[in-house]
Amino acid sequence: MKRKMRRLVGLVALATLALATPGVEAQLLSDLAEAAENLLVRPLEAAWDATFGKAPDAAGTVYLELLPNATETGALCLDGSPAGYWFRKGWGDGKDKWLVFLEGGGWCFNEQDCYERSKTILGSSKQWAQTRSDRSSQIFSADPKENPDFYNWNLVDVAYCDGASFSGNVAEPITVNGEEIYFRGKNILEATVWHLKYGKGMTFATDVVLAGCSAGGLATLLHADWFETRLGPSVKNYKAISFSGFFPDTPNFQGEPWYPSVMKYVYEMQQVDIHSPGCLADNMNEQYKCFFAQNQYRHIKTPVFLANSVYDMYTISVIYNVSQQTIPENENNLVVPYLNDKSRSLWDLISWTGTWWAGKNGGFLHTCFTHCAGCLTDSGWSGVKVDGMSLRDYLGLWLRNQVARTREPCVYTLGEPFQCNPTCPPL
Ligand SMILES: *[C@@H]1O[C@H](CO)[C@@H](O)[C@H](O)[C@H]1NC(C)=O
Ligand SMILES: *[C@@H]1O[C@H](CO)[C@@H](O)[C@H](O)[C@H]1NC(C)=O
Repeated sequence: MKRKMRRLVGLVALATLALATPGVEAQLLSDLAEAAENLLVRPLEAAWDATFGKAPDAAGTVYLELLPNATETGALCLDGSPAGYWFRKGWGDGKDKWLVFLEGGGWCFNEQDCYERSKTILGSSKQWAQTRSDRSSQIFSADPKENPDFYNWNLVDVAYCDGASFSGNVAEPITVNGEEIYFRGKNILEATVWHLKYGKGMTFATDVVLAGCSAGGLATLLHADWFETRLGPSVKNYKAISFSGFFPDTPNFQGEPWYPSVMKYVYEMQQVDIHSPGCLADNMNEQYKCFFAQNQYRHIKTPVFLANSVYDMYTISVIYNVSQQTIPENENNLVVPYLNDKSRSLWDLISWTGTWWAGKNGGFLHTCFTHCAGCLTDSGWSGVKVDGMSLRDYLGLWLRNQVARTREPCVYTLGEPFQCNPTCPPL
């Protein structure tokens, strides 16, 4: 402080001298202005930000943070590059509120698949953008009209680069095609929380919501209870939102148990690490079953909101293996009855649990043929209505501890228009 004061006095003296001296170059004045800015304005700004937070730019830009010391902490993407996240600081009354969002992007199903993924942004941080302006709508929006509940929260968009829903835990890399591949998703989560707490001020958090979509929505269900153990005593409200993460353990349209078998392989290959005593005890001899949402959901203690379509586009095309084109073209065949049947089973899996009905939990189950509604499309966030309210409305009620749960979803018609909810995008 003393040194700063002396420099300031010196600067003021110099400036007075410069102004009193005719013919002094503009350069000197601008140097002085810059020095004064560095000395005075910047620290004041920093102090202001630290106290009150700062509104973001209109685009709601998020900035990349790569995790430091990733080699020591093991927070590594498939290719061994450091993991990271995009960040936007909270402001106003959102200063100590945190939305930690886990990105999705499917899984890599075997060693070769993971090797190929390690060359892409879903397996390596080498090509990640420094800033992103595409995290500016729906639940990420910094506009209070678009996103009344989260607009000014700290936004952490955790990049997905481990291939197994932030769950892998293999100490040593494996070698594929002569290159090292890392399975460290769980370490990525651990190191991310640490960095947020001690590098970004999450140690002062009062409200934390863990959320995620698709593979990140599954990760949210898998790790919600564990994540809470990592938060500090300042946190008064902790909740979790899973968007489109409820992938069923089921055979496909052709009768092949494709998805269950590939996920079992991922579980073993990545030595998936799930902290869920209830689920693990229920599935003593088949612990890989805890890698499925349906077995995890019933055991979650964290207040959880499930946002899912019971005709989810990814589930239908990849897990059921029914192609998009098959649906409208086959009005008289088995596809629509099959999908209706699957949709009923999904509703049963969810509604035959205490989790679905618990007062602290909520859910928005709809019938749109979409995936990641609420984090990808405006229609899924605020346009689609169930009983007159959008996902955004239900989430707002749930956040304020009010009843926020849709009822049994409608069923597709056997002929046109198939879709039973007129607010969904047409099939
Ligand atoms: C992280 O790296 C910095 C230097 O980059 C080093 O000073 C520090 O000790 C490291 N921390 C850990 C936990 O390894
Ligand atoms: C998925 O469907 C296609 C076309 O109907 C079929 O050829 C393929 O074998 C199916 N895949 C699996 C894993 O059953």
